[in-house]
Amino acid sequence: MSKERIAFPSGFLWGTATAAHQVEGYNDNNDWWAFERAPDTIWHGDRSDRACNWWEDAEADFDRMVALNHNTHRLSIEWSRIEPQEGEWDETAVARYREMLRGLRERDIEPMVTLHHFSTPLWLAQQGGWSNPAAVSYFRRWAGKAVQYFGDLAKLWCTINEPAIYAALGNLFGLHAPGAQSLQRYFSVLRHMLQGHAAAYRVIHSFDGQARVGLVKNLQLFDPADPESRLDRFFAGFFDYAFNDLVMKALAEGRLCPPLGLGLSSAKGLLDSYDFVGVNYYSRSLVAFEPGRGDFMGVRRFPTPGAETSDEGRHGTYGEVYPEGLYRVLMRAARLNKPIYITETGLPDADDDQRPRFLITHLAQAARAIADGADVRGFYHWSLTDNFEWAEGWALRFGLIALDEKTQERTVRPSGHLFAAIAAENGLTRELVERYAPEVVGEVFENHG
Ligand code: FCB
Repeated sequence: MSKERIAFPSGFLWGTATAAHQVEGYNDNNDWWAFERAPDTIWHGDRSDRACNWWEDAEADFDRMVALNHNTHRLSIEWSRIEPQEGEWDETAVARYREMLRGLRERDIEPMVTLHHFSTPLWLAQQGGWSNPAAVSYFRRWAGKAVQYFGDLAKLWCTINEPAIYAALGNLFGLHAPGAQSLQRYFSVLRHMLQGHAAAYRVIHSFDGQARVGLVKNLQLFDPADPESRLDRFFAGFFDYAFNDLVMKALAEGRLCPPLGLGLSSAKGLLDSYDFVGVNYYSRSLVAFEPGRGDFMGVRRFPTPGAETSDEGRHGTYGEVYPEGLYRVLMRAARLNKPIYITETGLPDADDDQRPRFLITHLAQAARAIADGADVRGFYHWSLTDNFEWAEGWALRFGLIALDEKTQERTVRPSGHLFAAIAAENGLTRELVERYAPEVVGEVFENHG
C-alpha cells in the first residue's frame, strides 16, 4: 500500500446511519414515545418531539448528504407508522417512505433499510413486546409487507439493529424502553429477535431474490482488566459469550446455544439467514471481578485507565476510544465469510475536537482489516446530524453536522468536511491526515500503511 494514500475498494459505500425514532419526530405510536413520558427515563427530561424534522423534510438532509459526497444512507422504517394497529396498514405512511426512498435514489444515494431499530409498535409492546414469542410472526408479517411496499426502491435490508443491545438495555438494565430488569427476559428477547431475523430473511427473499439481507450486530469488546486474573478472564469471556457469541454463533452455525436454546430445533431457518453482516462498533470495556464494587454480578466494566474517552454520558464515561477494536471486530466478523458493512461507528463529541482523528484512525483500521481479508463494502458513520440519543436525550452529540434541535439550524462540523473529502477520494490521503489530525500521521501511514 502506498505511503501517500490508503485506498478503499472501488464501489465502496460512504454514508451515515440514522434510526426513525431518533430523526423523524412525533413518532407517538411506539413504546419509546411512551417511555420518554415516564418519570426519570431520559437524561435532563429530554424528549424526542420534533427530533430532526425528517417526517416533514428529510429531503433537506438528503441534499446535505449529496453536498458531502455520500453515496449511501442507512435509515430505518418505523414499523408503528406503517402498522399503527395490529393488522392495519397505513397507506399514507407507506407513500411518505416511498417518497423518501425515491428521494435518496434520485440523489444517487443507495438506501439501506432497517426494519427494527429499537422502537416497537405500542400495540405489540402492550402484549409483552419481544418477550412474547408472537413477536416473531408479527415481525415476519411486517418484513413481508415492507418488501412488497419498498422492494423496488431498496435492495439492502437490515432486519434488526443490535438485538443484544436492545435486549440488554431495555430488558436487563431497564435503561431503554420497555424499562424491564430481568435476566430471563434478556435471553427470551434475544431468542425471539434471532428467530424474527431468520423469519424476516426468508420472507424478504421469497418476494425479492435480488434483496441483500443482513443482521446488525454491535460487537462490543470485553477484555480482562488483569489478563493474569482467572476471574477477570472468566467474566470477560462470559460477557463476550452472552453478548456477542450467542448472536455470532446463531449466524455462523444456525443454532441457538444455551441458554437461548438447545440447538437446531429452536432455530428454524437461522442457518444461512444472511447475505451480509452489519457491524456496529463503538468501544471496548475492561472487565474486573470486584465483589462489592462491581455493578453487575460483582463485575466492573471500565475504560483502560489513561485512555482517550469521548464526551461523558448520563452514567459517566461513554466509552474508550479504541481504534484497533474496529480491526479486531472486523476480523471476527470476517470469519463468517460474508460481505461486511460497518453499519455504525462514531462517538459523542460536541466540540468535534476528537471526531476527525477518530474517523481517520478507525478508517485506517478498517483498511487494515480489508488488507487482511475482511470483505468490507461500506462505512456508515453514526450519524449525519446530532439526534435524539435515546435515554441520553439530546446531550450526546454524534453528528457530522451539529444540530440545534430548537431552531433546527444545522452547521457542518470540521469532521463533516473531512468525511466528505474521504468519500470523494475513496480513501485517506496523507494530505488530509496532515490537515485534520497531524498527530496520527505516523500511526496511520507508517504502521498500517
Ligand atoms: C447504537 C444505536 C444507535 C445510536 C448509537 C449511538 O447502539 O444503534 O441508534 O444510539 O448507538
